[in-house]
Amino acid sequence: MSHRAETYDTQLRAYDEAALAQAAALIRAGEPVAVPTETVYGLAADATNSSAVARIYAAKGRPSFNPLIVHVADLAMARRLVAFSPLAETLADAFWPGALTMVLPRRPDCPVAELASAGLPTLAVRLPSHPAMRALIMASGVPLAAPSANASGSISPTRAGHVMASLGGRIPFILDAGPTSAGLESTIVRPEDERIVILRPGPVTAATLEQASGLPVAEAGKDERISAPGQLESHYAPSKRLALGVTEPTPDQYHIGFGPGGCDYNLSKNSELIEAAANLFAALHEADAAPQPRISVAPIPMEGIGTAINDRLRRAAA
Ligand code: TXA
Ligand code: MG
Repeated sequence: MSHRAETYDTQLRAYDEAALAQAAALIRAGEPVAVPTETVYGLAADATNSSAVARIYAAKGRPSFNPLIVHVADLAMARRLVAFSPLAETLADAFWPGALTMVLPRRPDCPVAELASAGLPTLAVRLPSHPAMRALIMASGVPLAAPSANASGSISPTRAGHVMASLGGRIPFILDAGPTSAGLESTIVRPEDERIVILRPGPVTAATLEQASGLPVAEAGKDERISAPGQLESHYAPSKRLALGVTEPTPDQYHIGFGPGGCDYNLSKNSELIEAAANLFAALHEADAAPQPRISVAPIPMEGIGTAINDRLRRAAA
């Protein structure tokens, strides 16, 4: 049943043309694939396919939907996703390809699934330097959402063997291109008007950011620190009151359903949790824009990725 995490006979293949083609075919089929970047191994999936993104969270067993970094093969691809300020251009020029992630406003026509950025109006983007990751993005033709390729709560993998130990049986494929060089996750920054804010420290230091931009660099406040998964405070939340576990909605509620039965938006008619996760943020945005003054949500089972769905709903209702 799709309620449980999917199980796979995980294949580990050394990086070559054939292995790359196989990985790209899996990405196009909406599957997650482990691939090295210069920082750590990532668990990559088609960022424009919300079910594929849901499979990343399901495989990692993440208890919440933390927004993910979207990886691009070149600057042109990044420009189709987010709006670049002059400062963002300067930083891209100085540090891309490389271990710098920038949080920038999503373009109105951004094709990336809302689940990848957890419903936020911004998107974290990175142009990595690792040839395997760049070749995979190019071969699959889509931007790739990729958190570190480890089960939730364990440390980031710097070799294919770490990925196998952590996610073996939970993902179909690992592209092995040897150990990663940086071994530490990318620096995440938010370029502002007159300064740069570091959201997560990493291989690109405050000093080099300052030097490249001529602007002051600030550390994010504690409430904004995102080094620990799930700690991000700036979450998308609907503006209306939201009731959870509702089986009999009242007429003033926009009802988000799950499984058979009447509702305004069904997360998954067949009660599939991956599909429900993929639809969650679209449903919340629809509900927010609807004429009804309140929102209700059907009970969602607390199994597999259902845990993350319920965590997200609890935050939205708080
Ligand atoms: O080196 C890396 O960055 C690796 C490799 C695979 O690229 N990726 C990685 O991803 O570390 P992940 O998902 O483990 O960490 C992404 C971090 C999370 O802490 C998340 O909260 C933050 O980026 N993030 C993503 N989108 C964001 C956004 N729109 N605003 C603020 N923070 C965001
Ligand atoms: Mg991680």
